[in-house]
Amino acid sequence: MTPDLFADSCAPWQEAVCEGAVVLRRYALAQDRSLLAAVDSVTAAAPFRHMLTPGGYRMSVAMTNCGPLGWVSDESGYRYDACDPVSGRPWPAMPTVFAELATAAATAAGFPDFMPDACLINRYEPGARLSLHQDRNERDFRQPIVSLSLGLPAVFLFGGLRRSEPARRIPLEHGDVVVWGGPARLRYHGVLALKEGAHPLLGRRRLNLTFRKAG
Ligand code: SIN
Ligand code: FE2
Repeated sequence: MTPDLFADSCAPWQEAVCEGAVVLRRYALAQDRSLLAAVDSVTAAAPFRHMLTPGGYRMSVAMTNCGPLGWVSDESGYRYDACDPVSGRPWPAMPTVFAELATAAATAAGFPDFMPDACLINRYEPGARLSLHQDRNERDFRQPIVSLSLGLPAVFLFGGLRRSEPARRIPLEHGDVVVWGGPARLRYHGVLALKEGAHPLLGRRRLNLTFRKAG
């Protein structure tokens, strides 16, 4: 039998970044439409908004959340909150398709039993960027971060444990999932300004879903 050389050409593949960090290329591609429908159901109840940094600046990335805890920023600082400060109501429930994807991706990356209780949804339009930061508002740093990219491509910066260390530039595309944990859990990371473009499903936008066990 002749092997079909092209049968697996769209199958996901893994790229190690460093100890504890891996990119699962195109991992979510097969579910992109159901993931996007779930994003729409979340944003219908909790619309995207531009939060303020503790320094009083409006973030260029628009954000919302789903799940028991949501990440919020305002002039008093960063924190997790069970309620959306805009509506005063609990954040929308985490869609099953999100939680299942996050658990499966974490397992594929070597972090079994990951059960996220927070999903931050970031929306980038051309020019929007996220400066280098650590994810450190969570309670248990043994739990990894699972980060899904959809829509326009972006350059992810993945640095060291100190802000001053040089950062690698990792191009991320629609369907890619980055998982970092263990010795990489507190590495600085960010996103370069989004380039202009048009994605077949999302137009001039990139979405990033960051799953965490926060509480
Ligand atoms: C984040 O660090 O919260 C988002 C990263 C990304 O947009 O890829
Ligand atoms: Fe982050």
